[in-house]
Amino acid sequence: MLEHLSAQPKDKILALMAAYRADTRDTKVDLGVGVYKDASGTTPVMRAVKAAEQRLVDQQDTKAYTGLAGDPAFSDAMIDLVLDGAVERDRIAAVATPGGTGAIRQALELIKLAAPGATVWLSDPTWPNHPSIIKYLGIKSQTYRYFNAETRSVDYVGMLTDLGAVLPGDIVLLHGCCHNPTGANLTVPQWKGVIDLLKEKSAVPFIDIAYQGFGDGLDKDGAATRMVASSFDNVLIAASCSKNFGIYRERTGILMAIAKDADQRDLAQQNLSFLNRQNFSFPPDHGARVVTTILNDPELRADWEAELEEVRLGMLDLRKQLSSELRRLSNSDRFDFLADHRGMFSLLGTSPDKVEKLRADHGIYMVGDSRMNIAGLNADTIPVLAQAIIDAGV
Ligand code: LMR
Repeated sequence: MLEHLSAQPKDKILALMAAYRADTRDTKVDLGVGVYKDASGTTPVMRAVKAAEQRLVDQQDTKAYTGLAGDPAFSDAMIDLVLDGAVERDRIAAVATPGGTGAIRQALELIKLAAPGATVWLSDPTWPNHPSIIKYLGIKSQTYRYFNAETRSVDYVGMLTDLGAVLPGDIVLLHGCCHNPTGANLTVPQWKGVIDLLKEKSAVPFIDIAYQGFGDGLDKDGAATRMVASSFDNVLIAASCSKNFGIYRERTGILMAIAKDADQRDLAQQNLSFLNRQNFSFPPDHGARVVTTILNDPELRADWEAELEEVRLGMLDLRKQLSSELRRLSNSDRFDFLADHRGMFSLLGTSPDKVEKLRADHGIYMVGDSRMNIAGLNADTIPVLAQAIIDAGV
């Protein structure tokens, strides 16, 4: 049987992780996979996470199954964190999932059940796993322009033009904040314009929000998702706790499906639980319980928010340092966009050849489309990267 297999396409982010590990140069710089690192290069366990885990070890008296949708307290806490009351609770179906990727996968499975003929529209570019899962599931997809390679900001006119071709019932995938890979984000008026257009087209928005708290703060990063959620009868939202709680390997995420009314919600909820059962049965619980413990305990929550804010401000500071170093070296404002972008990533906007040159000559690892993980930098590597960017003729 197994001889009939053929090799599957490699995920370019994970392939880059492996290449970085295999590089023996001690000057190598990892700007690849989207994992937060502090100035010493470690990905710390957040203080509130440690404390919540300790509490669980001390107090948890069973590891018996939860419900198929996960612990309802996790859903409540996450719905509150992401939507902050923007939509009536009895219109929201939700299931815990293995990470944000699990939520995306379950959302696409739900789309297959509810709208098998619909096209899913993706920003160009987007996180590579979006088109990969869509293709694997045999769902139709199209792209809309998103990034202006000249200005390294959102190509808003191109985006609206392309979304003008959306058909009624099509799904439009949007990044709630901190766009991956570009780092370029819609302004509030631009979000309003997109919402108006999608309403006119009778489209269904699907929000991927994996970096809430990494851009402009927890509340501001949730604002666009809340605006979308309160503007449509149906919205899908895949949220991840990997980054903002730093619990990557615990696989903690949630899929929310906003329904027109409570009856429709019940039907969506039953379908989501069914899909969990088909794919993995009960969702992972440990990370979800840690998150719930933190969000429901005022002290732990305050400490988590404070540490997340330190992480966010640290990344903003790295952005400012890199753009000002490049301003100095290039004698131009060409790289000012780095300070304007938000989240973990910025798309440098250069060719794969130059990305390869940066890797070969300087041991600087970024994804082939020139996506850099800003959190991979520190005060020592910023001047090295800036000089390398200039030397490579970016
Ligand atoms: C990334 O974009 O680097 C992260 O979301 C990690 C991943 O799974 O690709």
